[in-house]
Amino acid sequence: TCDPKKVAVVGAGYVGLGTAGLLAHLGYQVTGIDVDLDRVAQLQRGEVPIHEPGLDALLAAQGERLTWTTDYAAVADADVVFICVGTPPSSDGTPDLRYVTAAAASIAAHLDARPLVIVNKSTVPIGTGDFVQRILEDNALTFDLARHTVVSNPEFLREGTALADSLYPDRIVLGGSTEALDCMVKLYAPLIEQSFTPPPATPRPEGFTRPAVVRTTLQSAEMIKYAANAFLALKISFANEVAGLCERVGADIEEVTTGIGLDTRIGLRFLQAGLGWGGSCFGKDTQGLISAGDEHDYDMPILRAAIDVNYRQRRVVIDKLLRHLKTLKGKKVGVLGMAFKPNTDDLRDAPAHDLIQRLVQLGARVTAHDPIAMPRAAREWAHLTYQAADSIEAVFDRADAVIIATEWNEYRALDWAAMTHRMREAVIIDARNIIRTPLAAEIEQVGRAVLKAGPVPS
Ligand code: NAI
Repeated sequence: TCDPKKVAVVGAGYVGLGTAGLLAHLGYQVTGIDVDLDRVAQLQRGEVPIHEPGLDALLAAQGERLTWTTDYAAVADADVVFICVGTPPSSDGTPDLRYVTAAAASIAAHLDARPLVIVNKSTVPIGTGDFVQRILEDNALTFDLARHTVVSNPEFLREGTALADSLYPDRIVLGGSTEALDCMVKLYAPLIEQSFTPPPATPRPEGFTRPAVVRTTLQSAEMIKYAANAFLALKISFANEVAGLCERVGADIEEVTTGIGLDTRIGLRFLQAGLGWGGSCFGKDTQGLISAGDEHDYDMPILRAAIDVNYRQRRVVIDKLLRHLKTLKGKKVGVLGMAFKPNTDDLRDAPAHDLIQRLVQLGARVTAHDPIAMPRAAREWAHLTYQAADSIEAVFDRADAVIIATEWNEYRALDWAAMTHRMREAVIIDARNIIRTPLAAEIEQVGRAVLKAGPVPS
């Protein structure tokens, strides 16, 4: 019988840190394991290596219940081990499973005769659960492996709201054998019953009762993760495709998406037109599903179209800019926002990257700003020749155009009239539709008429 008390979490990234914090908060003794020495040293000092609202406080509050190490020996002591390592795309679009393979082999080296549930939280191709099970069997021949079982428990958190998403999820998806899933339901009981005390920074949303639990097979759980992300990506691309036509026929995409989204069969969320999706998941997971189709000689045209529409949005911004400025040679273009979305410092597949790269290619002088992600960009985007702005004002000073690439609240709250006064030519490409009132500027938004220059405020 399963009575989980100790948990090991392998991989201390966006998912692993949240998972470790959540499980410690639910009362388990948690050991976080990562192969990155610097990262573990930082965590041991009490520093959190990523930006995620509320995470610092949650981790700090766990005290002795949560420790960090590079040593897999902690696996031997655990009742449940979570795999939360990265699965980045390979050059051909298929997910790179080298980290999952390495983590499974390291876990296997520390298996003993105690029954252990190995939970895969990384997003992995359908069939990986069986593959992990085989790695465990191959690497730990001497033990009673029938007692070690692999479960798929895909993660649905969104960066920026990761803690609320983990503490108050719509559903918990669990795939695997009946016995292993019973154990997972026991582990997650405080989450399922919502019997824990909410952390001060992340209160329980009003009206939230409890998550649904979906019990299924390994394969279906793995498919659910991909299909969920692909569907959300599809919704965004649909809104963007309709937005392009709205611009041409004089309709307003926000009114249109409100009008369709109020139909409960459609829903309002993930219908925002803008610069399209970015980040580490949607691009990789839509491509991953297409690759899975390819392997079975099965085409997935809807997903291919969703990807095309997404990356077209990045080119459309440059086209709009060229319509206003004719040439970008020598022009100063400001970019507001570098992270792929607000409230994170994650720069993976961020639209701003492609925008800056293209602007520089076209001869523009680019000044870019982000409230949080600039130090990270200095490291990860060193190949781009842009000027890092030391203030928001510096983005606007004598600029010919400014592009809003990420909808941070800091930008929504700007005194836009004062900002546009600093510009040489007041062209603003608001690729996130955050400006609400006409200004003394030409403002291009997504899926709505150009906001014509209003009177200059006195
Ligand atoms: P990440 O790249 O932020 O973190 C991965 C961590 O794993 C790193 O700290 C790395 O050092 C560590 N690692 C790599 N190999 C290891 C090994 N052999 N042993 C121990 N640690 C190792 O990745 P992130 O974003 O947390 O994603 C993890 C998985 O979760 C991916 O499959 C991703 O698709 C999925 N996912 C991510 C979400 C997100 O919003 N970031 C949301 C839902 C799922």
